[in-house]
Amino acid sequence: MDQNQIMLALTKGDRVLTQELALLARAGIEPLDDPQSSRKLIFDTSLAGVQFMLLRSSDVATFVQHGISDVGMAGRDVLLEHGEDGYYQPLDLDFGHCRIMEAGLIEEPSLPRRLRIATKFVNIAQRYYARLGQQVDIIKLYGAMELAPITGMAHRIVDIVETGNTLKANGLTPMNLIHDVSMRLIVNKTAMKVKHRLVAEFIERMRTAVQAANT
Ligand code: PRP
Repeated sequence: MDQNQIMLALTKGDRVLTQELALLARAGIEPLDDPQSSRKLIFDTSLAGVQFMLLRSSDVATFVQHGISDVGMAGRDVLLEHGEDGYYQPLDLDFGHCRIMEAGLIEEPSLPRRLRIATKFVNIAQRYYARLGQQVDIIKLYGAMELAPITGMAHRIVDIVETGNTLKANGLTPMNLIHDVSMRLIVNKTAMKVKHRLVAEFIERMRTAVQAANT
């Protein structure tokens, strides 16, 4: 950890990265190379002392927990699935809005007592059904979750719903809301103490940029 530098971890997914960069630009922070075309993973920025690295969404929390990045931007879905120890979440970045929902077939046959649930959010799903006192078998998938109820592999899915178009196109419907999701700013707990002034300034800069986006 460089005492005079802030290392930021950004989520590299295409849609999200565009919005992260737009927010940073509003905060007066622009990359010196174009992250959309460069193969680099660490970028210097126009603001002295601020660099960022590009990571898979599920790795952002890991890099921040380990203090390799002081701050990060990640979706609440990924944070809930990863576990929320080792970092603070001081700011809702107010983009990337979606929901984690339980969904199933529109024309759902009668279901057995013990359901099979397909999801990539295994921990979130486990906590959700445990809270309901419902015993389920969870099947981990990495994508195309909608296929699971269609093919009979699972009865229901737990997945991200944004517009609902993917569910609808596959004969599925959202049933129960599990979590509202948006992008969050996360901060390593040690960095918050050791680099307090730098980190606090950075959070305020981002807070102002988020407010500016909403006016
Ligand atoms: C998510 C999710 C759905 C889709 C929902 O996938 O898994 O497939 O978005 O969006 P909609 O409600 O607007 O149709 P994403 O595009 O994030 O890719 P992934 O499969 O890698 O998760």
